[in-house]
Amino acid sequence: MDNETIKTIKTRRSTRGFNQKEISKDVVKELLECARYAPSAMNRQPWRFIVISDKELISEMSEHIKQKAIEKFPHVKERAESMKDPIFYGSGLLVMILRPKDDEWAMFDCSAAAENMMLAARSLEIGSVPVGFAKFLEDDKDIMAKLDIPEGYEQHITLALGYVDEWPEAPERSSDDTIWI
Ligand SMILES: Cc1cc2nc3c(=O)[nH]c(=O)nc-3n(C[C@H](O)[C@H](O)[C@H](O)COP(=O)(O)O)c2cc1C
Repeated sequence: MDNETIKTIKTRRSTRGFNQKEISKDVVKELLECARYAPSAMNRQPWRFIVISDKELISEMSEHIKQKAIEKFPHVKERAESMKDPIFYGSGLLVMILRPKDDEWAMFDCSAAAENMMLAARSLEIGSVPVGFAKFLEDDKDIMAKLDIPEGYEQHITLALGYVDEWPEAPERSSDDTIWI
């Protein structure tokens, strides 16, 4: 089966390299709007977004995460140090998705919002990667203060976005994950 939606879903890839072409504010607003169209339990729309395009801050965040990642997983040191930005891959636009700490369904809601945003990005030829490593920011008081996360919220996932020169091949998918009754 094939249509534009299925094609977009199947060709979305985590992209780990971005070119310098800027994503316009109108496009960023559209991506956020697509995120808001995700389903959410009782339509609570619990997500909050922090859009970060300040290059200095992105680089400060990347450096902190890199050091933490090396501390925790020493085997990544060589690879991490050989790359200019092994965390956000040179992205000039991060969207940090926040979720309320006390909402058990928010994990689902915010993941759906993230996927909507990444699929919308793909449909506009914009690459993205969810950066789980960004969790390591939480112990840096200076960076957390700059991000100004509202009371009662925590980071769900941070997406790095940007235009790409090429789309990577899809890592293999297994279909051995379904019970048919
Ligand atoms: C919750 C989550 C955290 C992830 N964290 C990282 C990360 O820190 N760095 C990275 O390069 N990719 C990260 N990824 C991307 C996965 O490696 C990627 O989705 C997976 O290999 C499948 O490839 P695809 O996204 O191209 O289909 C993360 C993905 C998810 C869902």
